[in-house]
Amino acid sequence: MTLGHGADTTNNARPGHHLTSSSSAIKGPDVFHAIPEAIQERMSQLEERDRRDRADGTAHLERLRQIPSDTGRFLALLAASAPAGAWVEVGTSAGYSSMWLALAARERAASLTTFEILEHKAALATETFSLTGLQDVVTLVRGDFLTHVEQLSDIGFCFLDAEKDVYEQCYEAVVSKLVPGGLLVADNVISHESELRPMIERAIGDARVDAVVVPIGKGELVCRRNSDPARGD
Ligand SMILES: C[S@@+](CC[C@H](N)C(=O)[O-])C[C@H]1O[C@@H](n2cnc3c(N)ncnc32)[C@H](O)[C@@H]1O
Repeated sequence: MTLGHGADTTNNARPGHHLTSSSSAIKGPDVFHAIPEAIQERMSQLEERDRRDRADGTAHLERLRQIPSDTGRFLALLAASAPAGAWVEVGTSAGYSSMWLALAARERAASLTTFEILEHKAALATETFSLTGLQDVVTLVRGDFLTHVEQLSDIGFCFLDAEKDVYEQCYEAVVSKLVPGGLLVADNVISHESELRPMIERAIGDARVDAVVVPIGKGELVCRRNSDPARGD
């Protein structure tokens, strides 16, 4: 498959402020108020590396290209509110966004399956999940999401953050597998608006979902699957 190109905008938010931590296990009935130290530490490390990548001209495929922390919080809140079903992420990189989703997954007793096509990114993500003790919440699948998607069903939440040339295909594959009320969130719809315009228009006009562009971070397209009268749900 082709891995496309396109510079992401600067990731300038920090996750560190107003985080508290007191144990190495995720505990408590909330998503943000007891983030374990190991996760905070790994988030800070990856943010620092992401900032360096963006500043020093690191090649596109080498850069982490992470979401900003506010987007991570937004995703975690959406995921924590999603209906029951599988949780999926397309585009793991080093596991930064996965950590935000994992916080919500623990809160919901859910688990996240995340897909990464590049081996060196998958290796970094494995390190992330091991250092943070998240292996029981997150399953990393090495390979092209599009070759695995047919095995998925009943998706409650999906975060799409891959190369832009596969967004439309991923959109079609995922929307048809969302449970009623299930959410598909796609990143970069403002930073890469012209490239992603066909998918955005498809989503806005797609009667199977209600969709809106949210101006947070690089722009998130949030799609919620409508009930399907044919299925009676
Ligand atoms: C923007 S980065 C993901 C950043 C990550 N979500 C975060 O915020 O920490 C996009 C990642 O998607 C991966 N990718 C691209 N196309 C893919 C595909 N078809 N299947 C799985 N991973 C893919 C790339 O290798 C890259 O690591």
